[in-house]
Amino acid sequence: MTPDQLLQNTIHFVKKMLVNAEGGHDWFHIERVYNTANLILKNEKADELIVKLSTLLHDIADPKFHDGDESIGPKLAQEFLKGQNTSEDTVDHVVKIIQHMSFKNSLDKSQVSFITKEMEIVQDADRLDAMGAIGIARAFNYGGFKNRTLYDPNIPPKPNMTKEEYKSSHAPTINHFYEKLLLLKDGMHTETGKKIALERHRFMLEYLDQFYKEWNGWE
Ligand code: ADP
Ligand code: NI
Repeated sequence: MTPDQLLQNTIHFVKKMLVNAEGGHDWFHIERVYNTANLILKNEKADELIVKLSTLLHDIADPKFHDGDESIGPKLAQEFLKGQNTSEDTVDHVVKIIQHMSFKNSLDKSQVSFITKEMEIVQDADRLDAMGAIGIARAFNYGGFKNRTLYDPNIPPKPNMTKEEYKSSHAPTINHFYEKLLLLKDGMHTETGKKIALERHRFMLEYLDQFYKEWNGWE
């Protein structure tokens, strides 16, 4: 099978897996991350097929919607790739990337047990989609899904929560900016990722500024 055929089959498989996915993790999220990864690839030396397969397969079963089970996505991706006559090395690398993609795993540096150039590109591309105008839309979409309030001046953000605290937190969506979104800029690996992140970061700050102005009724 040619790499192009494999990618076409993967796109078909992922679209099918995500038919009922919520707005922040649907096929369009994958498509944006895929396009961003391709952009980053133009300036980086990496195995393109691994990057492309990993971006396509990285969110096929979000643990947030599978009782916190983080093993389902990687397992399904592995089964799919094995059925496509993909080389064992490729399957292993892609599955490892998907397993280690979670934000919380990688913010806690002691837990970073796997990092390759390909992984860095996929992670940058995925994180960029949580920033800027799209990132803001996804955060409020997720907050709505979880029935969170938009903002509450009496509930301050907690930037260094443990994984458990974070999971059980019912904090307003604005807090998520301080707990995660504004920290993403400094976690970028690639030069292209850093450049795009800077602009998206600036836009989020501007957005917050305007949000508080309107909230407080300032001129
Ligand atoms: P990733 O894309 O790294 O897997 P998540 O699955 O945790 O990240 O989040 C997916 C989207 O939902 C992101 O845009 C993220 O900002 C948003 N999100 C996750 N947790 C929250 C939260 N507690 N409040 C608001 N938005 C959230
Ligand atoms: Ni994602």
